[in-house]
Amino acid sequence: MLSLRKLKDLWTILLFVAPICESQTRIQLKEVAVERLDCQESLCVGLEYPSPSEVAFFGENIGKKLKNYKALIIHSSRLTNLPRNVFQCLPQLAEFDVLECELQHIEKECFKGSQNLKILNLGGNSIRKMEGNTFDLSTELEDLNLSDNQLEELPRGVFLHLKKLRKLNLSNNKLKIISLDVFSPLKELQSVNLDSNHLKELPRGLFKELRLLSVRNNLLERISMNTFTTIAHLILSDNPQLKRLHLTGNINELQASNCGLTSVILDGRIISLQLENNRQLENVRLTQPQALEQLHLANANLSSLDFLSKATRLMDLDLSGIEKLKGVPDLWKSNRLERLSITYPMDMLAELKDLDYLEIQQEKLREIYIKDVDYDFFVKEDAIKCGHLRELLSDTGVPKDVTFWEEDSTLKCGDH
Ligand SMILES: *[C@@H]1O[C@H](CO)[C@@H](O)[C@H](O)[C@H]1NC(C)=O
Ligand SMILES: *[C@@H]1O[C@H](CO)[C@@H](O)[C@H](O)[C@H]1NC(C)=O
Ligand SMILES: *[C@@H]1O[C@H](CO)[C@@H](O)[C@H](O)[C@H]1NC(C)=O
Repeated sequence: MLSLRKLKDLWTILLFVAPICESQTRIQLKEVAVERLDCQESLCVGLEYPSPSEVAFFGENIGKKLKNYKALIIHSSRLTNLPRNVFQCLPQLAEFDVLECELQHIEKECFKGSQNLKILNLGGNSIRKMEGNTFDLSTELEDLNLSDNQLEELPRGVFLHLKKLRKLNLSNNKLKIISLDVFSPLKELQSVNLDSNHLKELPRGLFKELRLLSVRNNLLERISMNTFTTIAHLILSDNPQLKRLHLTGNINELQASNCGLTSVILDGRIISLQLENNRQLENVRLTQPQALEQLHLANANLSSLDFLSKATRLMDLDLSGIEKLKGVPDLWKSNRLERLSITYPMDMLAELKDLDYLEIQQEKLREIYIKDVDYDFFVKEDAIKCGHLRELLSDTGVPKDVTFWEEDSTLKCGDH
């Protein structure tokens, strides 16, 4: 009797001493110890825990092996459940990435001990659902990437404890709706990416202090007027359902290309406005055109642009493919204009002294004239000129026929 009790006491003591890396959660999933990890520095592959009823946990030896790394990146693995005790084993981790590992479930307990975790990247997994308390213990997070998952909704309060969160990437999910209170506790939030979801509207009044919001390629139908007081970059392109836009805030850059816009009214200050390929766009009104530096309106259905006469800081203007503007007088010449794209050449071109890039698009032919190219570039080799041209054109392809304004030489450096 006596000896058996002693044995039991000893057992209890052992249980208290041993589980340095074990979690203390009620066990619903079966914990499976990870005995070895195949790692090159902090990049680890080959964790195979695909069973939904099992969860990996890191043994002590792994804690020792990786104790000098601030980041742990797991890929080429299968982990239906996020390993349970990563941060109890590796409390020094500032970044944890589990990329393309078919991850589906995250238990709240996984973040126990994550007092140094600032970056969490779970991009490219199969997360469909999260609990409202999933991130309750990862309170130090600044950058959370959940892009390329299967999220259909964000539960209430899911980000409530992420008071330090600055960047959130939810692109390429299946979000249909965002409830009012999801982002409001995040006072430090600067950048939110909601590209390629199924959102029809944005929650009202929640983005007052953001620097960047990108909601490209969704099903947005409307955006309420005072959603923003100030925002540096607002990206709304590829929302074919978006017909009207009336915003009151100050915006540095607004991109709303390839939408179904018929009318755009901006009451605040705007510096860069990109609205190309809104083929039904008949009305653009800006109350503070004096701040405008870049305006792209290619292929709109506009017949007048009254505010342009006041846009004296304009440097970059694209009015190509606007048939109805053909006969408009040169109200819109800004003496700072450096880049201009139009369909029909106009008389006033000679007056634009600073112009160093002119693009004329007619019947699918694109001609580009470049003036004031740094003289160093006027060397014999076409490759160098083409390289410079590519830089000037940034992302778009270099067209086949290119004429240098100064030299009148025709170059062929097209990609297609
Ligand atoms: C977020 O994850 C996606 C998908 O894995 C990746 O393409 C993207 O670069 C990540 N972003 C950051 C900031 O890590
Ligand atoms: C978010 O993820 C997408 C796609 O996975 C990536 O293209 C984008 O750069 C990321 N954005 C940010 C701000 O990290
Ligand atoms: C362009 O505007 C005219 C009216 O000015 C209208 O008749 C026409 O249908 C519009 N085109 C498109 C593509 O919306």
